[in-house]
Amino acid sequence: MSERPSVVFALEARHLPLLFPPEVMSRLAALADLGPGTVVDLRDPEALGLLAGVDVLITGWGCPPLGLDVLDAAPRLRAVLHTGGSVKYLLPPEGWDRGLVVSSAAAANALPVAEYTLGMILLSGKGVFELRERFRAERSFVMGQVHRSVGNAGRRVGLIGASRIGRRVIELLRPFDFDVLLHDPYVTREEAHGLGVRKVDLAELLAMSDVVSVHAPATPETRHLIGRAGLALMRDGAVLLNTSRGSLIDHDALTEELVSGRLRAVLDVTEPEPLPAASPLYDLPNVLLTPHIAGSHGNELRRLGLTAVEELERFLAGRPLCHRVEHGDLHRAA
Ligand SMILES: NC(=O)c1ccc[n+]([C@@H]2O[C@H](COP(=O)([O-])OP(=O)(O)OC[C@H]3O[C@@H](n4cnc5c(N)ncnc54)[C@H](O)[C@@H]3O)[C@@H](O)[C@H]2O)c1
Repeated sequence: MSERPSVVFALEARHLPLLFPPEVMSRLAALADLGPGTVVDLRDPEALGLLAGVDVLITGWGCPPLGLDVLDAAPRLRAVLHTGGSVKYLLPPEGWDRGLVVSSAAAANALPVAEYTLGMILLSGKGVFELRERFRAERSFVMGQVHRSVGNAGRRVGLIGASRIGRRVIELLRPFDFDVLLHDPYVTREEAHGLGVRKVDLAELLAMSDVVSVHAPATPETRHLIGRAGLALMRDGAVLLNTSRGSLIDHDALTEELVSGRLRAVLDVTEPEPLPAASPLYDLPNVLLTPHIAGSHGNELRRLGLTAVEELERFLAGRPLCHRVEHGDLHRAA
């Protein structure tokens, strides 16, 4: 592309200053023409008129799927740079045939999820959540009350999915005294070995792990990947950590296991989300429920905007993008 491209944002306007704080925005403005009123609401049919001369769309959370009416209204469009994670539903199947370059910020969004996961593995292994509850109730503490299974020495962590997030978790776990297992049908034993983990089947992973952390994407294949029988294989007192999507776990069976107190759980995502107000999972001492916060929030959004700017720099220089998404990969991706 020889001239400065015309770039328009299609995302939640209130996210714009967090995604593109001044230093990121000025880097973008040095590359592209950002006309006045650069955030378009693609739900508004009148906004489509603003797309006629647009070369690049920077999309993000709050952007509706780009229907064929949108793509037809933007005949010069060459690239869609998404500041969110998944682009699975951003374009209709026919939209992928138009030769557009599509890129996502899922890799940048993987970092905070992996950090959350590491933190939860360490704190749950240490028994922090239960011991804090007990301390608050009893206002006293006797060293001998700590069960011998508490602690992070030689703990076995089972990861489901060597996804972008799963791989970052593997990296973050490296300095600790953990034995890491992996279940992922798309990764060979040799690849797993190269990552420094041991590939096992799902049943083995569930039966052998102290902590099971779920990082596979939601696909038809992974719906209720962990069902009643799988949960029953987990060790007494084991922790199930889910930052992926609620649909991967049978929540009726999980709730029964958690109400009985046999398992522990850290759940950032649930099915449904949020859970009904009467769900026992909000109050159980063996459950830590968070409101889908593992991904980028606050100052972490800046990395997502920066990813789009760096992708645009590469695109304009005719270099390959680092985070290009191909339609053919979507069936196994988030
Ligand atoms: N809690 C949050 O805030 C948050 C934020 C970002 C992403 N997520 C979720 O985290 C999950 C992982 O995201 P990602 O971007 O790392 O995914 P990704 O697109 O990188 O994952 C794709 C990979 O997952 C693995 N996989 C696919 N099917 C599998 C299966 N049946 N069993 C095991 N592994 C399988 C394969 O290695 C595949 O290449 C997604 O569900 C995503 O929606 C949650």
